[in-house]
Amino acid sequence: MVARLQDKIALITGAARGIGAAIAEAFAEEGARLALIDRDAATLAKTAAKIGGDVLACRADVAKREEADAAVARAIEHFGKVDILINNAGINVYDDPLKLSQEDWQRCMAVNLEGPWNFIRAVLPSMLAQKRGAIVNIASTHAFSIIPGYFPYPVAKHGVVGLTRSLAIDYAPEGIRINAIAPGYIDTDIVKDWFATFADPQAARKKVEDIIPLRRIGRPREVAMAAVYLASDEAGFSTGSVLTMDGGRSVVYHD
Ligand SMILES: NC(=O)c1ccc[n+]([C@@H]2O[C@H](COP(=O)([O-])OP(=O)(O)OC[C@H]3O[C@@H](n4cnc5c(N)ncnc54)[C@H](O)[C@@H]3O)[C@@H](O)[C@H]2O)c1
Repeated sequence: MVARLQDKIALITGAARGIGAAIAEAFAEEGARLALIDRDAATLAKTAAKIGGDVLACRADVAKREEADAAVARAIEHFGKVDILINNAGINVYDDPLKLSQEDWQRCMAVNLEGPWNFIRAVLPSMLAQKRGAIVNIASTHAFSIIPGYFPYPVAKHGVVGLTRSLAIDYAPEGIRINAIAPGYIDTDIVKDWFATFADPQAARKKVEDIIPLRRIGRPREVAMAAVYLASDEAGFSTGSVLTMDGGRSVVYHD
């Protein structure tokens, strides 16, 4: 059987750990050749070495347009093109709206919303040249459901869905598909760090698991396989869509 991403050149941001590293591993298994981006060069180098093969590891801060341009230029110099972009790098920024500093507002938007745009605009010329490309943006269930006290992260993630849908329509005639994944709780360091902020992290985790219909937190690998699907030709008729992966949580109506 031919691998689902055989010889595709895939650029993945935030690939050092968590969901991004799981996507990198799954893409390598499916035959893709990888350009991995992260601002944490040391962890990225370890992840790239673990995957092995012809993996390009490139330190860049997605929030900085010039660093995104330079990373994409390096990938194109190395591989000749980019077929797939996975915009995965993201950070949690939560605060009381009136206590939130301007710096934190800007950091949240710069990484979570401008980051994906910086990389999309950098890869588009290569995709337009071949009239083919697949982009997957990692949004969140915070892109459509609001939990009180989580401002302004949901603002940025709503924006990621807007970016996905808007550009999907502009570039559909050019053969470029742009979709998003909206994960709920996924078992990565960012979530473990968040549970650790509670007096009883185990109890905090159990409370979350109890309100998820599938009664567990998701696995990075499960998000990675959704990214494989959306990036592959199997999803050839999907663009502008958002695939929710939250164990059924956002379907539940609370009265
Ligand atoms: N884990 C969850 O429950 C969950 C749920 C919904 C959405 N998400 C989204 O999934 C994505 C990945 O989350 P995760 O849980 O794997 O997080 P994580 O913190 O484990 O990994 C994020 C990676 O992105 C990198 N990164 C962060 N800011 C960067 C920047 N400015 N430039 C380059 N790299 C940067 C980090 O160094 C890290 O390697 C994020 O966009 C997050 O918002 C996660």
